[in-house]
Amino acid sequence: MIEADRPVSVQAEEAEDGGANSSMNASLGDVVAQRLSRRDVMRGALAVSVAGAAVESVLRAVSPAAAAPALDGARPVFDFAELGVIEDETHHVADGYDADVLIRWGNPVVGDAPAFAPATQGPEAQAKQFGYNNDFIGFIPLGTAGDRGLLVVNHEYTNEELMFAGLLPRGRGMDAAGKDAVFEAITERHVAVEMMAHGGSVIEIARSGGKWAVVPDSKYARRITAETEMEISGPARGHALMRTSADPEGSRVRGMINNCAGGVTPWGTWLTCEENTNYYFWNKAALDRHPQRSGLVRYGIPSEWYQWGRFHERFDIGREPNEPHRFGWVVEIDPMDPDSVPVKRTAMGRFKHEGAGNIVNKDGRFVVYQGDDERFDYLYRFVTEGKVDAADRAKNRDLLDRGTLSVARFDADGTGHWLPLIHGQSGLVPALGFADQGEVLIQARLAADMLGATKMDRPEDVDVNPATGKVYAMLTNNTKRKSDVTDAANPRGPNVFGHIIEITPDDGDHAAGGFRWEILVKCGDPAIAPLGAAFNPATSRNGWFAMPDNCTFDAEGRLWVATDGNSAAKTGRADGIWGIDTQGEGRGTSTCFFQVPRGAEMCGPCFTPDMETMFLAVQHPGEVAEGAKGQKAASFEDPSTRWPDFQDGVPPRPSVVAVTRRGGGKIARGT
Ligand code: FEO
Ligand code: CA
Ligand code: CA
Ligand code: CA
Repeated sequence: MIEADRPVSVQAEEAEDGGANSSMNASLGDVVAQRLSRRDVMRGALAVSVAGAAVESVLRAVSPAAAAPALDGARPVFDFAELGVIEDETHHVADGYDADVLIRWGNPVVGDAPAFAPATQGPEAQAKQFGYNNDFIGFIPLGTAGDRGLLVVNHEYTNEELMFAGLLPRGRGMDAAGKDAVFEAITERHVAVEMMAHGGSVIEIARSGGKWAVVPDSKYARRITAETEMEISGPARGHALMRTSADPEGSRVRGMINNCAGGVTPWGTWLTCEENTNYYFWNKAALDRHPQRSGLVRYGIPSEWYQWGRFHERFDIGREPNEPHRFGWVVEIDPMDPDSVPVKRTAMGRFKHEGAGNIVNKDGRFVVYQGDDERFDYLYRFVTEGKVDAADRAKNRDLLDRGTLSVARFDADGTGHWLPLIHGQSGLVPALGFADQGEVLIQARLAADMLGATKMDRPEDVDVNPATGKVYAMLTNNTKRKSDVTDAANPRGPNVFGHIIEITPDDGDHAAGGFRWEILVKCGDPAIAPLGAAFNPATSRNGWFAMPDNCTFDAEGRLWVATDGNSAAKTGRADGIWGIDTQGEGRGTSTCFFQVPRGAEMCGPCFTPDMETMFLAVQHPGEVAEGAKGQKAASFEDPSTRWPDFQDGVPPRPSVVAVTRRGGGKIARGT
């Protein structure tokens, strides 16, 4: 898997892509071909822009949404001075704002956590400290004054080459036999620290004098790791495919891993989503004799990216063949009760979950939109059977255990359909490998393949605009899509820079079977015509972005997009936060608000309800250095930045940043 001559980030992307979708369902140009001739979409190098333009004209012909009213009747919707394009060793925020580091990797979370000592970091310390690679952030208010709350934060993964001294960058230490010396050099202690640096943190924060700080010794403070005991609930609980030697009943599992984006429910629980769980499984030699081989292959398991299987039998598929089925779920956690047992909600399906953007439907049912982040994978929706009880929090405790998981098909005429994954229907029957609903959910990707879902360009975060009910899906990119396998919803091949799709549920009903859709923006530099990028022409030279990933709406229904993959070499800019208009004449205009330090990816974002603070997660700062000679991998000894401490010997530290307006007031709103 590791190759010495390729950048580590590319290898990571390919490891992430380990579960390639080889199913034969539509999207291979079929839907485009319904509206366009093959000749139009297959013109060699120009096919990208030609097909894109043709599809655009189809979309314009069918889409009335561009005439929607402006959010507040006048531009600018985002009132701030745009940040200039920057890529350097530190973070930057628009003029007039402060961006203060709130908590960083290694800071205390649980009361008696020791001070951060990077040279000697051990698992006991890490289990009490803030974990690595913060991704999703949720804010849950405490009280009504607006000056206290809980932050729930995912710790997605670890960069051992940046965390530990003495390891070469991945891919830079191949021995004569072709083995990666870094991989071989990782010890049981390294793995133990990694496992404690995964999961999530609950911290209490309070605002004083306009600035937020972590409340020490909070009764809510909690670390969740790759060893925390969890319940398995829903239709796959107790399933034969969920049973292991440590858990013969298939009802309990230790830990959550690779928790990427997420969501917060209206009843104040945290939905945290397991994404690239294939990284953690081990023993490729055992794959061919595994009884669920096709399922494992579809999910890219085992990837052997991490070394956990060398020291922990449960991550070895030869020893615990069902352990992989126990990861890849949405986990619900009650942050108000630090003793509560996290619950893996299997009714929501198993795949590479990105986030859990949600809304209470007009009939009271709870709806969660979910991306499966892999090239050519799908967009899902979960609708509960029961209704949200707004008056009694406890009544929602098991709401997510019963409902309907569906997968999206995007048709070329601008409509789309949600296809339900229900056992006994649409080929999801025992004769075709689905014994029951539990198996449909455990093998959700295989089930969705049967239904003819549309293969998307890596669905990352999906969120609902609370002001309009429209849904926005970030499609980050798909470098493997060929120009002759584009479709209307994924019109560029290759799609190097990603796009954003807007979904309008039929009749404003998030449980409806149908929707209309259109593309909000196609990312990349609009000035380079062959890229086929499309933003509103009002977008400045600094304003466009690429690789949309996490996103959020503020209380006024403004869309904020975080990116993953911009850099000096790829787009001439760091990752960051862009505000993007979704309505009115400014629709599709984006503006840069924040940029991360070199090597980092932008995660979060999250607003306080008063819109006076935006919390951001700076993930893997210093990961990759880029210069005139191109990309080079970084290490503990030689990171591409030492943000945010900038001290010799202290590695870069993933951190949460609180952005506030100098002098107070709402973010990006005139006073
Ligand atoms: Fe963890 Fe799809 O980003
Ligand atoms: Ca992401
Ligand atoms: Ca989000
Ligand atoms: Ca990403």
